[in-house]
Amino acid sequence: MAHEKRIVIVKDGPYLACGSIPLKEELMCTVGEHREYKPGRELAQAQTYALCRCGRTKTPPFCDGEHQHYGFEGTETADRRSYVERAETFEGPALDLLDDHRCAFARFCHRMGSEVWTLTEGSDDPIVREEAIKASQDCPTGRLVHLDKERGYQQLEPELEPEISVLQDGEKGCSGPLYVKGGIPLISADGTEYESRNRYALCRCGQSRTMPFCDAMHIGIQFQDDLFT
Ligand code: FES
Repeated sequence: MAHEKRIVIVKDGPYLACGSIPLKEELMCTVGEHREYKPGRELAQAQTYALCRCGRTKTPPFCDGEHQHYGFEGTETADRRSYVERAETFEGPALDLLDDHRCAFARFCHRMGSEVWTLTEGSDDPIVREEAIKASQDCPTGRLVHLDKERGYQQLEPELEPEISVLQDGEKGCSGPLYVKGGIPLISADGTEYESRNRYALCRCGQSRTMPFCDAMHIGIQFQDDLFT
């Protein structure tokens, strides 16, 4: 158990990452008509570490205890129903698209001068289909999941190794959420486990209205950690 990868939310405090989860920084960049992740700085690795959730640490992305000094209130407010229960379905000819509207405004859903919903409508064209799938799979929140209608509505999820990526959004002049990959279990401060998800984005600016998940508030408040370049 001590070596199992998991993220445990501390009540009104940080995220405890357990089980030697690789930690990296990634820069979200626009390249032509799509978005890409580019490597950021090297970050310290550890078997267990605490990542700031309140947005006020002076040692980002790690917690330095500042949440205690100003009385961070980190109550988890996210809808706990399953992804499928929460998601709306958009239909296309070859693909359907599930969308739970949990948006981090990372903008990977925009490609080819279009966006994932319109691309899904054109998914009987093989090139458009591939672009649509890239647009859903690159989103860090897990908000968008395509269903392959030709393969029994199989979910088209990317294969991701377990890791946590600290995102930076230079084009918006701010720091982004924690992109959690590879199905790492997330444990609430109340001890219950969130639905298992391949990928999700955790708030680290302390202002989300759907705690613990990112809802793009980091852009509104222009959240900047001191890793930001
Ligand atoms: S959660 Fe501890 S300093 Fe932010």
